[in-house]
Amino acid sequence: MDYFVHETAVIDNGCKIRSGTKIWHFSHIMTDCEIGESCNIGQNVVVSPGVKLGRNVKVQNNVSIYTGVICEDDVFLGPSMVFTNVINPRSAVNRRGQYAQTIVKTGASIGANATIVCGNNIGEYALVGAGAVVTKTVKPYALIVGNPAKQIGWVSEYGHRLNFKKNHIAVCPESNQEYEFNPKDNTVKRIK
Ligand SMILES: CC(C)(COP(=O)(O)OP(=O)(O)OC[C@H]1O[C@@H](n2cnc3c(N)ncnc32)[C@H](O)[C@@H]1OP(=O)(O)O)[C@@H](O)C(=O)NCCC(=O)NCCS
Repeated sequence: MDYFVHETAVIDNGCKIRSGTKIWHFSHIMTDCEIGESCNIGQNVVVSPGVKLGRNVKVQNNVSIYTGVICEDDVFLGPSMVFTNVINPRSAVNRRGQYAQTIVKTGASIGANATIVCGNNIGEYALVGAGAVVTKTVKPYALIVGNPAKQIGWVSEYGHRLNFKKNHIAVCPESNQEYEFNPKDNTVKRIK
């Protein structure tokens, strides 16, 4: 076994867990999950049946990743953030098998205590502020906060605010990577 599972964690049958991953106290990985290389699954985390996590996904304490959620590589899930997978839950109506899909794209981070209403994908390298309630799809590199969450800016792959100049170019102060803002479709992409 080239990954670590704390003695209090429970791993159900059929899971594929790749090398370097660590699974900490009281966490439960349910049947047929796939967890990529070098992930860190904190304390009291539940990963529901069939969920796929990419490589280097960091899951802080007290997060449940429900069936229907996919986390791509380098995703960060802050402490006690909340996913959902049924838009109109009723205890007396069985909606098993009708779970909505939510994709958290490569490099995206979700702040502490944020809630993601299901079906709203989080774009590459987007940053969701602490306590936000996400009710719409989030664009790549967007910075969003509040309830309902609204976009207040853009962030780099290193998580810094991007201040676009008149030429629509911004430089990340930490990595020196360059980004371009496209006003026609209100999108950002990395150009260097
Ligand atoms: C969203 C975030 C990245 C913004 O950081 P920032 O760029 O330094 O932003 P500022 O602190 O300058 O705040 C800008 C504005 O947004 C507001 N704001 C910041 N974070 C907010 C949040 N989470 N929810 C609501 N409003 C928020 C500020 O009050 C401020 O409002 P104002 O302009 O009316 O004064 C940061 O506040 C945050 O929530 N980070 C996540 C932390 C976290 O959960 N980490 C988990 C690992 S421990």
